[in-house]
This record gives sequence, structure tokens and C-alpha cells, in this order.
Amino acid sequence: MNVLVVGGGGREHALAWKLAQSPKVEKVFAAPGNPLWKGIEPVAITDFEELAQFAKENGVGFTMVGPEVPLCEGIVDVFRAHDLKIFGPDKNAAQLEGSKAYAKEFMLRHGIPTAGSGTFTNAQEASAYVKEMGAPIVIKADGLAAGKGVTVAMTEEEALAAIDECFTGAFGVAGERVVVEEFLDGEEASILAFVDGKTIKPLASSQDHKRRFEGDKGPNTGGMGAYSPAPVVTDDMWTKIDETVLQPFLKGVQADNLDFHGIVFIGIMVDKNGIPKVLEFNVRFGDPETEAVLPRLENDLLDAMLATVDEKLAEFEFQWADKHSVCVIMASGGYPASYEKGKEISGIAAAEETGAIVFQAGTKLEDGKTLNNGGRVLAVSALGDTIGEAVENAYKGVEQISWDAAVYRKDIAYRALEREQ
Ligand code: AMP
Ligand code: GLY
Repeated sequence: MNVLVVGGGGREHALAWKLAQSPKVEKVFAAPGNPLWKGIEPVAITDFEELAQFAKENGVGFTMVGPEVPLCEGIVDVFRAHDLKIFGPDKNAAQLEGSKAYAKEFMLRHGIPTAGSGTFTNAQEASAYVKEMGAPIVIKADGLAAGKGVTVAMTEEEALAAIDECFTGAFGVAGERVVVEEFLDGEEASILAFVDGKTIKPLASSQDHKRRFEGDKGPNTGGMGAYSPAPVVTDDMWTKIDETVLQPFLKGVQADNLDFHGIVFIGIMVDKNGIPKVLEFNVRFGDPETEAVLPRLENDLLDAMLATVDEKLAEFEFQWADKHSVCVIMASGGYPASYEKGKEISGIAAAEETGAIVFQAGTKLEDGKTLNNGGRVLAVSALGDTIGEAVENAYKGVEQISWDAAVYRKDIAYRALEREQ
């Protein structure tokens, strides 16, 4: 069959790359995709009805949605209405990511451990709550804000400024409601799990690096690198996460009658007492977690996704290469603030010759040249028998690639490396 991937970032390149390896797949389309993705056909359609029409006319038997925005806007509902198979929650269930207040209520209702919080629709009450609780404290715009809606405030002033920002419209309607949350200290992990309404099955664990600079300093970004597995998720931790988070999540989906046939990506904070608490739900794959996790997957990804859509996940067994994986993001100088586009990139083929996999996120083909065209530009991934070897292999790839003002973090996976040594 032919398959369609919705999205155009590094995560979607990794998904399309893995789906294209399935012997059952003839052609992979991606909307919008990127003409630089080898063997993947770009489709310039954004309207959901038109895209469903395209799927019908082009033998698309399965559609996979990468980003949260189309899921929250109801792409699954539209494709289903046309009897098309699609992976992801419907619009109602996508609120688990689309509204932080909704997610908080879901967690409270179903006994899922998370930070204590209050939800507010005006600055006065939110500010009063901050003064009562004190800093550090976390301010979250309720709706989707392209990863910019969360402020981890170390002082009361910062917290009050973040509240003002939300209520003066910095995030549009997304900031009209604000969740103020207890600060959790500990180590984060990304837990991805497929959910078919009857069963929940986790993928391999991973961890990303959200801060721009080495040592996890500087501004928040979409993610500067990731690795899998995450050593903080020991066997014992998996048991705790399964019992206190994954199973209650599944029960909650059932009790609330949510239509969820897709992936949930749960941001977890393991606190100092070894208790896992949920920071957030996402209803899609993580970026760059996906670029680190999928190279370790030994199954046919299409089989796994079809099992999820067809409610046969209970019969599906994930198999993972007994290897470590590291993904390093190469970004445009200046990111996450302003940066220049249109610089020619060289060395991608040489990087691939080292054995690294280069996923293209913010690139553009022009006059036969590959140019940088976004903040996060490339995701360079590699496997190794140890985390040290995977790090070495990923950076061997990175070092082949250059363009004017390319930047990347040199310490991806440092926590795991410290543990290994
Ligand atoms: P998000 O944009 O929702 O992924 O959140 C961004 C980051 O903010 C998370 O990855 C955490 O590092 C941090 N964060 C969110 N909630 C909390 C919390 N309650 N305590 C500490 N850090 C948090
Ligand atoms: N890597 C974090 C995210 O995809 O939201």
C-alpha cells in the first residue's frame, strides 16, 4: 500500500524513513514533506478535506500524523469520516495536549501523579496563587504555544511577568487560561507509548536536551539532541511508571470514552525520592526523541501502527536493538532567537558514509543546493554498542557537515555517559 506522513520536520523524516522500510509499503507521501527526503514524495496540500481526497485518489491505505496542530484541529475526525485509516487521537482526545488544564483535570480524575496546580482565567487570581505558593514555580499557557508557553520561574517576579505575558495576549487564546504549577526537581525522561483503547505498550525510553547550551543552560528550544535508552528509566522505574502512569492513563481513556488510537508521549520527572510524576502529555511522537528511538526499532513500524489503529496492539511485540542511540541536532546560529536562512549546507553525504543517519528538519532545495531553512536544521543519529560509542558515532557524522553559522551542543547524552563511566 501507499502511506502518507503529515508534517515536514526531522521527526516526520524519521517516521517516513522507517515506514518506507516496510516490505508492505510501495510509496511514501509526505505533506508537506521535503524534496530533500530521499525516496519520499512531497505533497503540497494542507486542507484536511483535500488531503483525504488525495489519499483516496492515490491508494493511501494508512496515514500517520507527526505534529500536534493537525491532531488538535481534527485531522483524524476528517479522515475517519472518509473511511481512511489514520494513526492518532481524534480532536476531543487531542485536548490531552491541546489544553494543559484539561490534561490536569484528567490526571486528577484518574489518580495520575503530577505537580500540584491551580488553573486561572485572570491575572489577579493567578498572581495571588503565586504569592501564596512562592518560587520556584511554573507558569503554563493553557493552549498550544509552539513549545514557548512554559516558564519555569526561579523567582516570584519572573512568575508574575510570565502571568502578565499570558494575559496580555503573548500567546493569543492559548494564554487566556493559565496553569500555575508546583516546581518539580529531578531528572526528566520521555516515555512514548502506543495506545489502542484496550492496551498500552511503551516504546524504548529516551531523554532529550531542551536547553540550547552545554550543561543544560540557556534558553529552552524544541530540543537540541536526544538519546535512547535513558538510564534513569531502570527496570524498577519502568514498573513504577507502568503501574502509576501508563495503566491509569489507559483506564482514564476508557472511563472518559476517549477515541485514542495512536501514541502518547509522556514527559516524566523522576523526583529525588524516585517517584515519577507527569509533567505533560503530548499526543504525538517527540522531536528529537523519534530520531533517536526509531533507529533502534527492529519491527516493521507499519505493522505496529496498523495494530494500534485496528485495536490489535495486545498481540504486537516491540523488539529493540540492544544498542544505544544518540541524535545530535544541528541548528542555525542564533536559534532559538533569530537566525539567518539560505546558507548552503555541505557534507551530508559524507556524514551518511560514516554510518550516521541524517534526518532533515529545516532544509530547503534550491537550484540543486541544500540550504538551511529553519532553526533546527538537521538531526544526526547513530547507534553504538555503548552510549560512549553511540556519542562518538553521532559526532563523527556531525563533524562532516558544515554551513555558515551552524551550531550544535557538544555534550549530548552527558548524563548517560557520566553514569556509564
Ligand atoms: P513543555 O514545553 O510543556 O514540554 O515544558 C517544557 C519544560 O518545562 C519541560 O520539559 C520541563 O523541563 C519544564 N517543566 C514543565 N513543568 C515543570 C514542573 N512542574 N517543574 C519543573 N519543570 C517543569
Ligand atoms: N522533545 C520534546 C517534544 O517533542 O515536545
